[in-house]
Amino acid sequence: MKLLLLAILVVAVLDLANTQACIKPEAGCPNENITFWLYNLKNIKQPVLLNPLHLNPSDFLTGYPIEIIIHGYTGHRDFAPNNWIRPVLVLKKSANVISIDYGPLVREGCYFQAVRNSRLASECLAQLINKLFEMDWMRPDKLHVIGYSLGAQVAGQLSNYVEQKLDHITGLDPAKPLFVNAPNALKLDKSDAEFVDIIHTDPFERGMLLPLGHADFYPNGGGSYQPGCQNEIMRSTCNHDRAPQFYAESIDSTVGFWGLKCENMINR
Ligand SMILES: *[C@@H]1O[C@H](CO)[C@@H](O)[C@H](O)[C@H]1NC(C)=O
Repeated sequence: MKLLLLAILVVAVLDLANTQACIKPEAGCPNENITFWLYNLKNIKQPVLLNPLHLNPSDFLTGYPIEIIIHGYTGHRDFAPNNWIRPVLVLKKSANVISIDYGPLVREGCYFQAVRNSRLASECLAQLINKLFEMDWMRPDKLHVIGYSLGAQVAGQLSNYVEQKLDHITGLDPAKPLFVNAPNALKLDKSDAEFVDIIHTDPFERGMLLPLGHADFYPNGGGSYQPGCQNEIMRSTCNHDRAPQFYAESIDSTVGFWGLKCENMINR
């Protein structure tokens, strides 16, 4: 009994310590803890830190797509999905890739606060997107937003703040905890862009199970493990990380991916 009380006390103290370490950012954009980094063929080694209030059009490769990549919980601008997807987009599509970094707001042990902070990340990213549309060569179909895990939910919240509807959002295994029952305004769904495609790789744990977009892909049947993850201790992490890996591969694959259309969740 004493031991149990002690254990509860320790957990409570640890939780308190964690809560204090979790950043509750000030309201309003721009925010020093949310930054935007531009990568393209002009600067692949040294990205440009963008000022969301004042863009310099000469930093961009005019006419090439703008691809915005949003990391998830415990991530940062060099973490998944950036490490997988960014090099392919820059090298194969000559894209202007903008990696958002809101790492300070989604630190380890701070998932609850990270979910709350996702709104501010979204609001500040929307401020940048509204500025992007002021560049004279920009058109809606030049912009594509790719979000992974919690970042997919950040992408879904953009529609609350952008001045014009987004053309295309790709959700890579959108995060489930605290979102599965949330209203559509707080999560990614098909109303958030003209076209929303989703890759589900960990539908029974970290990712969403039910279809959310105009096209939902369940690689390898969306089963309980992805190939190569069977023997992983952190199987769910392994499954979840497959979404950005598959997406990166799909960009320049010469063999493609075989798929078949499922009528519903049961008959596949
Ligand atoms: C940014 O994070 C720091 C902690 O690292 C915090 O003290 C500060 O208030 C945050 N800034 C804003 C504008 O939210």
